[in-house]
Amino acid sequence: MTSDGGRDRPGRYSADGARDGAGRYSPDGGQDEAARYSADELTELATATLGALGTPVAIAAQVARSLVLSNLVGHDSHGGIRLVQYSEFIAGGQIRPSAAAEVTSMRGAAGVVDGGWGFGKPAAQLETGLATRAAHDHAVAAVTVRDCNHVGRLGEYVAALADAGLMGMAFCNSGAVVAPFGGTGRALGTNPFAWAAPGALFGPLVVDFSTAGVAEGKLRVAAAEGRDVPDGLIVDARGRPSVRPEDFFAGGALLPFGGHKGSGMSVIIELLGGLLTGMGTACTPGYAGGNGTVLLAVDLAAFTDPHAYIDSATEFCARLVAVGAGPSGGIVLLPGELESRTHQRRLREGIPVGRGVLGLIYELTDRLGLPRLPAPAGSPVG
Ligand SMILES: NC(=O)c1ccc[n+]([C@@H]2O[C@H](COP(=O)([O-])OP(=O)(O)OC[C@H]3O[C@@H](n4cnc5c(N)ncnc54)[C@H](O)[C@@H]3O)[C@@H](O)[C@H]2O)c1
Repeated sequence: MTSDGGRDRPGRYSADGARDGAGRYSPDGGQDEAARYSADELTELATATLGALGTPVAIAAQVARSLVLSNLVGHDSHGGIRLVQYSEFIAGGQIRPSAAAEVTSMRGAAGVVDGGWGFGKPAAQLETGLATRAAHDHAVAAVTVRDCNHVGRLGEYVAALADAGLMGMAFCNSGAVVAPFGGTGRALGTNPFAWAAPGALFGPLVVDFSTAGVAEGKLRVAAAEGRDVPDGLIVDARGRPSVRPEDFFAGGALLPFGGHKGSGMSVIIELLGGLLTGMGTACTPGYAGGNGTVLLAVDLAAFTDPHAYIDSATEFCARLVAVGAGPSGGIVLLPGELESRTHQRRLREGIPVGRGVLGLIYELTDRLGLPRLPAPAGSPVG
């Protein structure tokens, strides 16, 4: 057992290291760490920043908590670094900071939330609450969100469904930055897919990933920290393979994960997230940006005995991890386990923030006249 409360250290992936022993990319970490901060410190900074950008305090706190939760679970691509992008969206009119999301229709277990072109996170949280209540009442529920900006990490919402005894599935489309399989130009969004179910000892099992090789935000973190990315993730504006995130931001494209498989999933997510919500598909005129989001929830109790389900799921998970180390010396991690371990560790040890990312955030907060975070004792920077 380790101090993570888990089994042996994962040999193939580390949320705090740039590359693991097997050479896989771990884009959330390995930064030139400026300091570690507590979740409370980062939440306070994010709330103040959003407030200074004209966001009412309740919405600012809601968005800030969700950003910092992403940092806590190891997805720094969806954490504090997004303050910079959100400030640009507010300046450009793509986010109306004081808009409140509202439920515009509820027919049986089918609901529609309108985000009013405000922040996406409060809209998706409203959607999650609605889907939870509707699934408990009707066994199965589907809720969409339209006209909202970035909802962030889909795992947050499906994990909340699983915590309520439901199975959850979420999709959203997003701006065109991914080349469809066989092509090299930008046409699809990074279109994430998330799926969660109760049943692991550490919490819900959560599968949550972009249908591109990585989330675009991981390129933002890599660029801020001056790092290259692994082969096979991006092409430059002329369609040539690249490892430099700058080539992506200069008009290149991300590639789908798994070739035709990720590409195919992404196409369907354009239809679900884009057309079911009415926000449109990423590469079609009229699409105004943002995340058209679809959430599906299934009440276990309507189909099976929830206690028997949990017993069987627990046994299944135990058998999976008992497969044990292969020649690589790695271990089997269940979906969501890495995030759960990282969450526990970062609550205990603080959230590492890279110099590059902190520099970008301070460019913004200095402009807004906000105080910087105090340098923690023993921090490598003053
Ligand atoms: N809102 C948007 O527009 C948008 C777009 C794209 C992605 N995203 C979000 O970005 C986040 C990151 O996406 P990503 O594609 O970079 O994710 P990723 O490649 O980091 O994959 C994460 C998933 O893989 C699992 N995982 C990781 N290592 C594992 C291992 N060794 N063994 C077993 N499972 C393992 C994790 O538990 C998690 O379910 C997601 O939360 C996604 O929802 C959002």
